[in-house]
Amino acid sequence: PSIEYELEAPFSVEYHDAVESTNDLARERAVHGATDVAVVANEQRGSRGRLEREWSSPAGGIWISLVTRPAVAPARAPLYTLAAAVATARIAREAGVDAQIKWPNDVVVPVGDDGDYRKLAGILTEMEGETDRIDWLVVGIGINANLDASDLPDGATSVRDETGDDVDRRRFVQRLVEEFDRARGDLESVVSAWRELALTIGQRVRVERATGELVGDAVDVTETGALVLETDDGRTTVSAGDCEHLRPT
Ligand code: BTN
Repeated sequence: PSIEYELEAPFSVEYHDAVESTNDLARERAVHGATDVAVVANEQRGSRGRLEREWSSPAGGIWISLVTRPAVAPARAPLYTLAAAVATARIAREAGVDAQIKWPNDVVVPVGDDGDYRKLAGILTEMEGETDRIDWLVVGIGINANLDASDLPDGATSVRDETGDDVDRRRFVQRLVEEFDRARGDLESVVSAWRELALTIGQRVRVERATGELVGDAVDVTETGALVLETDDGRTTVSAGDCEHLRPT
């Protein structure tokens, strides 16, 4: 494949043609002390999505996991997921895709004006650490790039389907890690950057949680990335980890 490469900055790349899951390899690297490594694959055979869901990763996508070791409290970990979503949406927009972010971590393309969308990319962040400090974070990003949406699960789209063109994956990855690097260096501005790209804010949504369902107007995100909902019973927040499904009503 044409994407066996070195990046200029700021992550070193470990490229594989086919793996089970780039997140699994990145976790191994993290456990052994690595940082600022990007594990990239052309194809994944056992890739994982949020909440133990399957994620489809045929050859032609961008499947990448970033290892970072921020010296911050675990409560701030969701900001790295938002940072990855912002970086992904920005680079997809550079490629001509009308990408927006569905809270907490889906990069989607809106369809019509009813809040409907197709999914372009997803993010799975995994971490280890003490109660007061993150040891490592693995931010896994899956982008349906040079693929036909017909080869992907229902509800998915791809850069190819949206623009009619394939992207240079090497360049896309280079830009993605640059944007992620910039965002992690300026976490304070991640939430406002996220708001600018958010499809969810302003929508009336139904959130499914293990502890029950919530319906309300999505009005904002907090400084740690939780969703602020205006429900009939007042204002409440939902953290990303508690959200099993979010749908426009
Ligand atoms: C989701 O939307 O549920 C998250 C999907 C995350 C997929 C990416 S692809 C690269 C990395 N490796 C994995 O096994 N998963 C993530």
